[in-house]
Order: sequence, then C-alpha cells, then structure tokens
Amino acid sequence: MTKIIKINPRNIDQNKINVAADIIKKWWLVALPTETVYGLWANWLDKQATKNIFIAKGRPSDNPLILHISDKKELNRLVKTIPENAKKLMEIFRPWPLTIIFQKSDIIPNTVTGWLDTIAVRMPNHPIALALIKASWCPIAAPSANLSTKPSPTKAEHVIQDFMDKIDIIINWWTCKVWVESTIIDISWEPMLLRPGGITIKQIEEIIWKIKIHPVVSGTTKWNINAKAPWMKYRHYAPKAEVFLIEGKVENIQSEINNLIKINNWKKIAVISTHKKHTYENVINKYLWSNKNDISKKIFNTFRELDKENSDIIFIEWISEKWLWLAIMNRIRKASKKIIYV
Ligand code: TXA
Ligand code: MG
Repeated sequence: MTKIIKINPRNIDQNKINVAADIIKKWWLVALPTETVYGLWANWLDKQATKNIFIAKGRPSDNPLILHISDKKELNRLVKTIPENAKKLMEIFRPWPLTIIFQKSDIIPNTVTGWLDTIAVRMPNHPIALALIKASWCPIAAPSANLSTKPSPTKAEHVIQDFMDKIDIIINWWTCKVWVESTIIDISWEPMLLRPGGITIKQIEEIIWKIKIHPVVSGTTKWNINAKAPWMKYRHYAPKAEVFLIEGKVENIQSEINNLIKINNWKKIAVISTHKKHTYENVINKYLWSNKNDISKKIFNTFRELDKENSDIIFIEWISEKWLWLAIMNRIRKASKKIIYV
C-alpha cells in the first residue's frame, strides 16, 4: 500500500520527512515534488534501490539517472573535476532547475549512469526535496515520477495515477513551480545544451558566454544513435493519443489543422491551440494561453486530461522556440508521432 503524506514546504514537519528518509535508507521508493516536476527518489549509492526505480518506471537500463544533492560540498567525492564553467554556473544557479554533467568519480556505480563515464548532478530548489536529501544522508537518484514514455508529473495526482500501490510513499504538495524539467548542460567537454528546461540559454550565456546546442534539442535530428544523452533516442512525455505538432505560419497552422480534422473525422480528435481566436469544430478544444509560463504549467496536465477523455489524436499548434518555449516545444516534439511543417 502506498502511503500519501501531505507536507507543507513553508512549514516542514521534520517527523514526516524522517519517515520518508527511513524508506530511502531501506532502498525503497518515495515520490515527492521538486520545483520542476515530481521525482521518484531512491538512494543513489544502493544498487537495489536504483534497480527498483528502473523496474517501477519501466525505464530502459541505458537511460541514466540524475543525482540530486543538497550541498555543493557533496560534489567533490562524486565527480573527477569541477571545471571553471561549472563553478561559475553553480555560484549563480544552485539550487536551481539546472543539471550539470561532469566526469564521474570511481565511487559511482555504472548501473545508474548507463555505463557512461559522466554523471548528471543537480541541486533541486525545493524545501521538501532539500530536507529529504539531508535527512537521508545520501545522494538521491531521482528521475521524473512518471511511467517511462508518459507525460511528466506536475501534481501529486499524476504520480498517484502512475504509481499508486507500486511505491512506498508519495509526498503530496499539490503542484510544482516550473512545471518543466531542469535544463541539462554537459560541461565535461565543451559546454553543450542537451535538454532545454527551467533555465534558458540566455540566462546561461550571461554566465559562461557561449554554449553549443545539441541538434536533437531543436528537433532537426530526431534519432541520434551517438547521442550524448541516451534518452534522446526514446519517445517521451507522450499521452496515449497520437500527437501531431503543426509548425509554421499561424494562418497556415489553422487551415492545416482544419484539413486534418476533415480527413480524420471518424476519430476522437483534440486540438491544443495557443491562439485565442482559433477554435475548431467537432473536436475537444484545449486552449493554452501562449504565455510561456501558462503553457509549461498546463501542457503535461492537458496530455493526461486528454488520456482520460480517450482522445485518439491530438493536434498541437506550434508557438515559438525562444526562452522557455524551447523547452516546451522540445517536450512536445518528443511526444509527437510526426511534425507537420506548413
Ligand atoms: O527536473 C529534473 O531534472 C527532474 C527532477 C525530478 O529533478 N528529473 C528528471 O530526471 O527529469 P529524468 O530521469 O526524467 O531525466 C533526466 C535525463 C535522462 O533522460 C537521462 O538520459 C539524462 O537526464 N542523463 C542522466 N545522466 C546523464 C549523463 N551522464 N549524460 C547525459 N544525459 C544524462
Ligand atoms: Mg523524465
């Protein structure tokens, strides 16, 4: 039986945190909110605990986990070196929705890094997450708390849908703050953005000048076998319905979606629109205001709502690749069966 514990981050009940920390020490699994999305937590250094994560999520074993720490000092024993660029980013951004990839030290087991010689590390910016790391006395492995390929969880309710009676504790603090995962930068060689997220490229380039962007990020290359991040080759964030992203000029997007609705009219169709004036007939209309924070807050939740409504197809209107939209569009591309350019 999964226990659901409510903890208020503004007034943390240490007894409840200790109960969760005991579970982590026993190599079992706890789900809890971070500022980005809910995470599924286990003791990073325990092989059985991390194996349990892979089993619970149905995650391929070559897809490594991010290591979560609560204090910069913990980094020294986990990585080989801390490059200057990483130091600069850590000064400004830690704790923050940023994950940095380092050369890993010898104490890190291969099973959690998917046999890569690097390790991804992040310090979450959430009082519950930080309190639990401290109380557990170990670095924490924490992927997003969703079944593999499913939309990421931004509310406890999403975690309950995927993991009720499959894990030990779900800590419930209703919603997250950023609603999209951390930005991942590989700093182990020349700085490269592997996953856009809560911190934008502009914010990073104000600190370390220029970073390269991996081609998979913008969706120009979908599958890259030599991917720097193994997850790039897997489908992600997807609802049950087939997702189609319609990308191009606003006027063309609307007429293309109307054509697609006609062609597929025997199916249950949903349209996620981002332009207020666009409403579509005989479909489930989901309008997400094109303000970037509103979309990031709602996109994963909307996917899950459309699952409940048993939609067969979802057409999504493209918006922009700037700022936080880069992260949102990246998630939508990864969830899509096809991108239709108009
Ligand atoms: O915001 C976040 O980062 C959330 C919260 C819970 O902290 N966590 C998260 O973890 O998004 P996950 O496992 O869902 O996504 C992390 C991605 C993985 O898909 C993995 O492939 C990539 O980070 N990754 C982990 N270690 C890596 C490494 N050494 N090199 C390249 N990519 C790596
Ligand atoms: Mg994930």
